[in-house]
Amino acid sequence: MVENAGTTLLSIRGLETRFGSKVIHSGLDLDVKAGEILVLFGGSGTGKSTLLRAIIGLDAPAAGSIFLDGEDITQFDESAWREVRKKVGYSFQNGALFDSLTVAENLEYPLRELTDMPPDERQKAIHDMLERIGMPDIAQLYPSELSGGMQKRVGMARALMLNPALILYDEPTAGLDPANIKKISGLMLDRKAHGQTGILVTHDVPCALAVGDRIAFLHEGRIAVIQDRAAIDREPDERIEAYIKGDVE
Ligand SMILES: Nc1ncnc2c1ncn2[C@@H]1O[C@H](COP(=O)(O)OP(=O)(O)OP(=O)(O)O)[C@@H](O)[C@H]1O
Ligand SMILES: [Mg+2]
Repeated sequence: MVENAGTTLLSIRGLETRFGSKVIHSGLDLDVKAGEILVLFGGSGTGKSTLLRAIIGLDAPAAGSIFLDGEDITQFDESAWREVRKKVGYSFQNGALFDSLTVAENLEYPLRELTDMPPDERQKAIHDMLERIGMPDIAQLYPSELSGGMQKRVGMARALMLNPALILYDEPTAGLDPANIKKISGLMLDRKAHGQTGILVTHDVPCALAVGDRIAFLHEGRIAVIQDRAAIDREPDERIEAYIKGDVE
């Protein structure tokens, strides 16, 4: 069991994000409990990735607060953000590997940038991670030599290198074959079993229902509804049900 299960790890209040005059989120509130995987559903372009980017500090919000372990990270300076980057991993929608670096160098990157781990320990951590994601022999390959599914798994592995308390998964299974989807879902469940908290943005309904503890629905800039996994089987909210059935664009 997770030591601090049930406490709130991340708390977002009154979040507003915008690109120029275009408002993406307005008055958005969301709590994520320690140890859960919270699924975020929402139509394309509703601002799911933008929300994850705000949490990791890539897009500064126009207003509102994001509390991580009780501290408002929107107020942090650059050195405090380094600590956030150790606690929060981001598995990018497009993998976002460095093309000019090998797989091993990609995985080493967060260790070099954010820790003082000695080189031999870094190599061991890379080796262990490649074992864990089931691809022990790809360390010296470049991203262009990998399939799309392998790139996604390496991208996720890089986000996991620092064993972050919170991991943000942005469409981890999109475009993958069933075998890779199963591996990625298994990895997410394994991480959850180890106490890691996750936010999962996905259009993959079976995957969401398999790994999610709660499902939130983003609509018109806010979390319109949030439901426990069990309640979705019993009596799903009509908006979540419509999304699951494919009736939401
Ligand atoms: N850097 C940017 N500059 C301007 N507009 C942006 C930028 N990034 C995103 N947007 C806009 O913000 C809105 C939300 O984009 P976002 O990528 O968060 O959507 P999403 O919910 O993740 O969609 P999808 O499911 O297709 O990935 C979109 O209308 C998009 O055009
Ligand atoms: Mg997106």
